Amino acid sequence: MPILDLSIDELLTTTRAVRKRLDFTRPVEPEVIRECLSLAVQAPTPGSMQNWHFLVVTDSAQRAALAAIYRKSTQAPGGQEDMLKHMIAAAASEEEVADLTRMFAPTRYLTEHLHEVPIHVIPCIEGRAENLSGASQAGHWGGIWPATWSFMLAARSRGLGTVLTTLHLDFEREAADVLSIPYDQVMQVGLIPVAYTLGTTFKPAVRKPLENVLHWDRW
Ligand SMILES: Cc1cc2nc3c(=O)[nH]c(=O)nc-3n(C[C@H](O)[C@H](O)[C@H](O)COP(=O)(O)O)c2cc1C
Repeated sequence: MPILDLSIDELLTTTRAVRKRLDFTRPVEPEVIRECLSLAVQAPTPGSMQNWHFLVVTDSAQRAALAAIYRKSTQAPGGQEDMLKHMIAAAASEEEVADLTRMFAPTRYLTEHLHEVPIHVIPCIEGRAENLSGASQAGHWGGIWPATWSFMLAARSRGLGTVLTTLHLDFEREAADVLSIPYDQVMQVGLIPVAYTLGTTFKPAVRKPLENVLHWDRW
């Protein structure tokens, strides 16, 4: 697969949450997904166990079912739409309302179009984490994040856009039924829509200044 001409630093700073610039019309070859995942599995894994899996969803009926679950989660009490409504109600000015609406626009766009995204990748981990201590959870399902991020970086390097999402997990069991995942033994940790991007140039994100989040020797 052709690789974009990006330096490693460019790759790390321009792998963005892509939602509005996903190309729903261009098919994604299964080989490119395999290639990205074969790179991803090189990521560190707790205790060398590699007890994680990636479920790739291409079937349109299954994608539609997952999108409906995702949408239900955004509309559930306490979900994304509720949150936005409360934030707008508490906003001090018209500008703040406009900012909030703008901020939520990409997420809303994804909610409306998720079924059109040609590939959904679901990272999964063997074993459920609900009853584990915080420390055990970090080593358990936290173990799949490095591989997940490697997958997203590899995808970006090949012109694919991704966004890590977790909203459908409010109804994880329903998604497990759609995908025949044995819910009691295997936990989904997210859903990554994958598609070629419309254009390949992305800017680094605006983030807090490093000094606000960097602690050296002491908090
Ligand atoms: C753990 C995690 C969960 C996320 N869940 C969602 C989600 O459910 N839906 C969504 O649209 N974006 C989700 N995002 C993406 C963030 O909203 C996104 O990273 C943020 O908008 C900043 O975008 P940027 O990384 O391109 O700067 C999630 C990101 C992370 C790290």
